Amino acid sequence: MKRPYVIIVSEVSIDGKLTLYRGASSKELMSLMDQEAYRYLHEIRAKVDGIMVGCETVRTDNPSLTVRYVKGKNPIRIIPCSTANIPLDANVLNTEEAPTIVAVTEKADPDRIKNLKEKGVQILTAGDELVDFDLLLPELYNRGIKTLMVEGGASINWEFIKRRVVDEIRLIHLPVIVGGENVPTLVGGEGFKKLKNILYLRLRAHFIRGKQLITEWEVAR
Ligand SMILES: NC(=O)c1ccc[n+]([C@@H]2O[C@H](COP(=O)([O-])OP(=O)(O)OC[C@H]3O[C@@H](n4cnc5c(N)ncnc54)[C@H](OP(=O)(O)O)[C@@H]3O)[C@@H](O)[C@H]2O)c1
Repeated sequence: MKRPYVIIVSEVSIDGKLTLYRGASSKELMSLMDQEAYRYLHEIRAKVDGIMVGCETVRTDNPSLTVRYVKGKNPIRIIPCSTANIPLDANVLNTEEAPTIVAVTEKADPDRIKNLKEKGVQILTAGDELVDFDLLLPELYNRGIKTLMVEGGASINWEFIKRRVVDEIRLIHLPVIVGGENVPTLVGGEGFKKLKNILYLRLRAHFIRGKQLITEWEVAR
């Protein structure tokens, strides 16, 4: 498959949680990070062509996905959102700051699509039920997105992991335990279940930025 080079980037607790409870904005947990961790994140944003988060992250965290802590160009924002159900005041819909592509499916409500288009958003239709990443990724590549940073959440990370269409994983480790069975972790979905199917990684680098441990992993081929 022709697809972008994919880097999943996330801050995680020691027990792999992305947030404090299901439905909670991860901004609360992220408030534990210092400026150096934000600079690390934004340095990556400034180097990639595209940045993706799932629709649920847009609804709970309302991120901007722009480059602010370092100098650099904003990447194109890509939001997989089958239903096109994005609040019209969401920060990612401010297309004066950066271009935004919303990937929808055939089931998306035409009125919602019309509203998004009026905000300057590009609509890409891929699939019938959930957004079909086998269609989406080659289309992004064709539109010039050769490097893609994926900032979660758990469901979207699984879409990449299960297809093995990820090249690197970079983690900002927060020295805390959150706990909780249903709290989103780095990767959600149904899981690989069998030892022969799990994804192997190779540690490429580990270092301290500010007070955070950062680890950078390559997917073993
Ligand atoms: N710590 C971090 O770095 C970090 C980063 C990001 C997010 N988070 C946290 O993660 C949580 C959200 O994660 P999440 O797993 O619930 O949601 P998510 O991965 O952000 O988004 C999932 C949503 O994407 C849409 N979608 C479209 N196509 C899909 C497909 N093929 N597969 C799966 N979803 C598809 C669906 O919404 P529709 O049905 O509307 O299309 C689905 O509900 C939030 O609490 C957020 O704060 C943390």
